[in-house]
Amino acid sequence: MKFPDAFLWGTATSTTQIEGHINNEWTGFVARDGKTCGIACNSYHQYAEDVQWMSQLGVNTYRMGIEWSRLQSEAQGPLHQAELARYVDQLDQLNAAGILPMVVLHHFSNPPWINAVGGWTNARTIPAFVDYATKLVAALRDRVRFWNTFNEPDTYASCGYLIAEFPPLKRGRLDLFRTVISNMAVAHERVCQVIRQAGSSLGKVEVGFSKNWTFFQPYQTNSPWDALLANFIHGQLNRLVMKRFLGGARKTASTFLGVNYYGRIRFKNLKPLVPTFGFSRKELAQMGVECDDMLERYPLGLESALQEIYKQCQLPIYITEHGCSSEDEAFRERDLRDNLAALHRAIDRGVDVRGFYYWSLLDNFEWQFGYSKKFGLLNVDFNDLQRSRSMKPLGHIYRKICLENSLDRS
Ligand code: FCB
Repeated sequence: MKFPDAFLWGTATSTTQIEGHINNEWTGFVARDGKTCGIACNSYHQYAEDVQWMSQLGVNTYRMGIEWSRLQSEAQGPLHQAELARYVDQLDQLNAAGILPMVVLHHFSNPPWINAVGGWTNARTIPAFVDYATKLVAALRDRVRFWNTFNEPDTYASCGYLIAEFPPLKRGRLDLFRTVISNMAVAHERVCQVIRQAGSSLGKVEVGFSKNWTFFQPYQTNSPWDALLANFIHGQLNRLVMKRFLGGARKTASTFLGVNYYGRIRFKNLKPLVPTFGFSRKELAQMGVECDDMLERYPLGLESALQEIYKQCQLPIYITEHGCSSEDEAFRERDLRDNLAALHRAIDRGVDVRGFYYWSLLDNFEWQFGYSKKFGLLNVDFNDLQRSRSMKPLGHIYRKICLENSLDRS
């Protein structure tokens, strides 16, 4: 199963989850495993080693974050030169290794001075973010041509304002959820313009955002309450976000769409059938709901989601995240193969998908769940201060896929 020529194969991470030594709203947040992001994978200091591991993996692109809170300490302030220099060095190492960086500007975190004024519920955050992005893009235009404004605005806003799982831990605030989405969408459009105007000496700039695509469905199709709930969530998290970011005049702001795809959530008696809601994987499997440690696996859905999304947006698509959290590497291998086969079918049916990023390079700090979820292609020893890394079996399998640009189904 060959993938198109020049298809990008990569891996993805985010600042809060791997860098460590960070000062944002996650710093004091205690996850369900009792741990904090702390030094995380220590990638703040060990990024050069990470680049070497990526070369061993054979990837040709890396979706990485740049942490706003490191670079600016007040609205309209200058960028901190020492912090900038560290990212410049990281980008230089990636470019030198032939690994194209896709830089994410916002991934679930803000500087403390932004959180102090209400984060994205406050419209004043929009010009502050645009100012930051303008300065950053000007500083990095010789090293970056591939930008991603926001990672999963839907997850950020729903976990922070609807289900109290992310800071600021608010529940049921649909009004704030919608305000956050609207403000981010305005900022997205403006930052797209900034990036297009700045251009890049490396070639044509690409800019987009990453939409998490989860299917929400009733477990029993004849259950009206479950159907209603699933449809409501689909309306807020999928339809509304797509409309705000890509509807009307914003249609022409992005040059691509990032899609993060993991699977689906089905509801039974208004409860989500996922392991993180207290059901055991065994119990779920008996109901025909096959899950990793987080969500129901649904590779077939990737094919249909891509077709539907592409019809709607008509933009080139990158799968900016897909991954599977489990200690069972054979399960993860099957998950990867099934999802890549679905992706390949979508490409065969005419969907313009140009790349795939595996979540994640490293086992890392998985937000509200702490270090208990194992998404990495590399294992990280969290008992060792050096955070030593080692390749997992899935890393070797992914390497073969990347190098051959092909999925061998045997
Ligand atoms: C996505 C997030 C990413 C990671 C994976 C498992 O929703 O973007 O940071 O948490 O899920």
